[in-house]
Amino acid sequence: MARKVSVGVVGIGTVAELFYLEAIVKHGDRAELTALCDVVPGRAQAAADKWGAKAAFTDLGKMLASTDVEAVLVLTKHSQHYEHAKQVLEAGRHLGIEKPIAATIEQATEIVELAEARGLKLAAAPAMAFEPVARRAEALIADGAIGRVAAVRTHMTANPADRETEWQRIGPNLARIDTPPTDQTWMYQAGEGGPLFDLTPYQLIPPTRLLGPIRRVGALAGIAVPERVSGSGPAKGQRFATTAPDNVVMLLDWGEDRFGMVYSGYLPANFRGPHTEYYGDAGVLAVNGGAGVDNIELYRTVTGGRESRWEAVGEPNDGWDVVDRAGAITHLVDCIADDAEVQLSARQALHILEVIDLVHKSNAGGRFLPTTTTFELPGTLPA
Ligand SMILES: NC(=O)c1ccc[n+]([C@@H]2O[C@H](COP(=O)([O-])OP(=O)(O)OC[C@H]3O[C@@H](n4cnc5c(N)ncnc54)[C@H](O)[C@@H]3O)[C@@H](O)[C@H]2O)c1
Repeated sequence: MARKVSVGVVGIGTVAELFYLEAIVKHGDRAELTALCDVVPGRAQAAADKWGAKAAFTDLGKMLASTDVEAVLVLTKHSQHYEHAKQVLEAGRHLGIEKPIAATIEQATEIVELAEARGLKLAAAPAMAFEPVARRAEALIADGAIGRVAAVRTHMTANPADRETEWQRIGPNLARIDTPPTDQTWMYQAGEGGPLFDLTPYQLIPPTRLLGPIRRVGALAGIAVPERVSGSGPAKGQRFATTAPDNVVMLLDWGEDRFGMVYSGYLPANFRGPHTEYYGDAGVLAVNGGAGVDNIELYRTVTGGRESRWEAVGEPNDGWDVVDRAGAITHLVDCIADDAEVQLSARQALHILEVIDLVHKSNAGGRFLPTTTTFELPGTLPA
């Protein structure tokens, strides 16, 4: 029988209850949910009772010192990722971490280098590489379905402080979440949240898997809704200011005349039209036909356009469950047990964080800026 990897989780908030804890429990043949930690008294204990974890803590240092967890999943606020990731790695534990790895490129670089120097595994969320639609899109493009990709367009909006709208956008299978929502107003604060940290990684992981590192970045980033009212959680009804850009347009240059157009915003959390479209010299691939519909449509140019049409490719969702989004920990567990290379690339996440950093700088300076980071994708994805 395969050995079990002992797992700890720090930050038992929205996303922990949304899918991570359930995913670890469902991965019970390889993972053991050993310890949970949250600074709010009683929160980790309540989740430990619900999900069957052995121990609960309010301090990460104590959890690391008094348990034998081999891997720790960091699910705290973005500005805390650096401190918590560093603590985990310095204690010699493997790291799974939600996006972004840290709130600054310098801090994130330190974390990735620390993991590499210590020979510890680092799995960077989100697990887009495993999503069936993303994999199908990669396979179709590799097979030449749309010819040479010349441009990518991607659009994503959300509104995390209004849980009902947010749930509606993500899909009805999240209605089962019965935990009280947290105060998510931090997601709108400069240096802490905003769509660039929250949404842009989802948008840039698939195209950078296909086209590789981005060479240059140009952007407009502003605040469209300076004052908001929280729609859910302990802060429901409270007015708060938006200080992180909530309205961002990026132009990306992959070199060799290949371009990207990206919109990331905290505007009403829905949109019509595909999440991502790839434009090639022989067709178009539309990935995800709107909020919560995970499908692919292919438009191929045939015989001078006379027979050209859109066709659906594969089934929507393809068995993809909300817990499959938890690959940053389930895949990490598998890689520890099998001593395999992690596919959720920390170097790719670092590159995307540099692009995000350049968005702010390009917006401030009004010009295109070159990237300096690069990455190579690890080997073939597991079947
Ligand atoms: N909310 C979502 O739908 C969603 C989806 C995908 C990814 N994410 C990512 O997940 C991460 C967490 O987001 P969230 O929405 O769950 O946040 P959240 O605010 O709901 O939860 C954060 C938790 O961390 C706890 N915490 C704060 N300081 C702590 C400390 N010092 N030690 C231990 N615990 C501490 C808080 O009490 C809270 O329970 C972020 O990186 C976010 O980008 C969120």
